[in-house]
Amino acid sequence: METGGEVPAEWENSVSEVLIGSADISRRVTELGHAISAKYEGLNPLLIVVLKGSYMFASDLSRAMKTPHELEFIRAKSYNGTESCGRVRIDGLENTKLKGRHLIIIEDIVDTGLTLSRLYEHFADAGAASIKTCSFLEKETVRRKSNVPNVDFVAFHIPDKFVIGYGLDYDQQYRHLPFVGVYKQ
Ligand code: XMP
Ligand code: MG
Repeated sequence: METGGEVPAEWENSVSEVLIGSADISRRVTELGHAISAKYEGLNPLLIVVLKGSYMFASDLSRAMKTPHELEFIRAKSYNGTESCGRVRIDGLENTKLKGRHLIIIEDIVDTGLTLSRLYEHFADAGAASIKTCSFLEKETVRRKSNVPNVDFVAFHIPDKFVIGYGLDYDQQYRHLPFVGVYKQ
């Protein structure tokens, strides 16, 4: 892998390290798009894009998919604000029929896995024909909750560091960086 490289001068104050370079992101996301596409031939899958973090990933992944598919965009908010409370509120699917659809949940990053597993349960209750999970990043399993299922499709596995760029933010900033960088605290 090529990846890494120097931190561009304009980001030196906020990024300590370039973890994944833009050429590698592009190559890997295209490859993943092709792979997912091949598995969903003729099924017209519905990509459920979890905003905001996965907007850039979803856009590149969707363009790499050759099989016809649809997209919906949702917001998922944790109740009580903490990561451990384990309940999420979903907005954005009020007018979408999920029954009988082949769903692919598109996330930016899976850390403990709680958000994704709650979304999965929600969609299972809605009568989907199948549900798979796809995340741009997955953190090493140190913080992973034991009862959380595996992610079906992952572009990159990363160490347990706070990362920004390619859709991921710190306090709503840095989403537009074309690479994944470690946030300089
Ligand atoms: P869980 O623990 O539910 O968390 O898998 C997933 C959500 O936590 C946020 N998160 C991050 N956001 N850089 C970010 O910008 C990170 O390194 C990071 N780690 C976790 C994110 O909102 C994700 O959807
Ligand atoms: Mg998120």
